[in-house]
Amino acid sequence: MSRVALPQYLENAAVAAELQSVILGLAEVSVDISKSLAKGALAGVLGAAGAENVQGEDQKKLDVIANDMIKDALAALPAVRGLASEEEAEVVPCHTAGSYLVTFDPLDGSSNIDINSMVGTIFSVLPHRGEAPVTEQDFLQPGRHQQAAGYVLYGPSVMLVLSTGNGVAMFTLDQDNGTYLLTESEVVIPADAKEFSINMSNQRHWAAPMQAYIADLISGKDGPRAKDFNMRWVAAMVADVHRILCRGGLFTYPWDSRKPDQAGKLRLMYEANPMGFLVEQAGGEIWTPEGKILDIQPEHIHQRVPVILGAANEVALCVDYHQR
Ligand code: AHG
Ligand code: MN
Ligand code: MN
Ligand code: MN
Repeated sequence: MSRVALPQYLENAAVAAELQSVILGLAEVSVDISKSLAKGALAGVLGAAGAENVQGEDQKKLDVIANDMIKDALAALPAVRGLASEEEAEVVPCHTAGSYLVTFDPLDGSSNIDINSMVGTIFSVLPHRGEAPVTEQDFLQPGRHQQAAGYVLYGPSVMLVLSTGNGVAMFTLDQDNGTYLLTESEVVIPADAKEFSINMSNQRHWAAPMQAYIADLISGKDGPRAKDFNMRWVAAMVADVHRILCRGGLFTYPWDSRKPDQAGKLRLMYEANPMGFLVEQAGGEIWTPEGKILDIQPEHIHQRVPVILGAANEVALCVDYHQR
């Protein structure tokens, strides 16, 4: 069976040439990252880098390696005006004539690196604005402005999941020749959920409405929901969201009383917005307790946000617990 390769898919979808170059550049570097991940201990890439990033996290070697590889790949593209990364304190100016700003989480699920479990790369492409040189202010656009977003999941197969605003497509890497081939073109998240995803160990730190919502889910058939729910937590947002795009469900990383000003753990511009773009394009929803995430006007590039995403009816119900 002949499958559509990524460049042909972008061509068929009439994606602007400059945007194609950004997506293909990210796809190409992800193949190199997947090779480093596959070599693991043999390449000496596991373990801590010995530094802390701007998020206050201890960086793993692969956080730094993946960040540098993506930064170099994007900086080489004339279409890229500037970039921002989870692992970079400041935005990085690139080509003043470029049309796009790219934000990325180079290695998502860092705690999985040393246990040979799933990790990913998340990216978001915004239109440029402002005059050269690029400033942080230029990046502070609502997720609604994204021209493309996606992720690469480094799992048993390497997959690229992408939206250019016209649905969500999934590509699988053919390891024999390093090309991404279309394997799913109509990704849809069912409106109702049977599965949820949350780090239960933080339960006592959640707001009361989230505690009540989850308590009702796990009370199963005998509780107010009159239904049993299953639970999964990979601890890599890419993998948890990928499962939701494949078989539905709800994912949340809620507000946490230990970090009230930080609003939770996930980053708006590297994690929530790109995943939100995909989720909405697949018919799902992504909210904070107050409103839709893609409508948030960012205040700074490393901003964090509580996230509730996935099955439309389930997200609405969870938000409703908070607004009652
Ligand atoms: P990152 O590795 O890019 O810093 O992101 C980790 C995030 C996200 O991928 C995941 O959903 C969450 O952290 C896991 O958090 P816990 O450690 O609380 O499980
Ligand atoms: Mn991190
Ligand atoms: Mn992440
Ligand atoms: Mn990361």
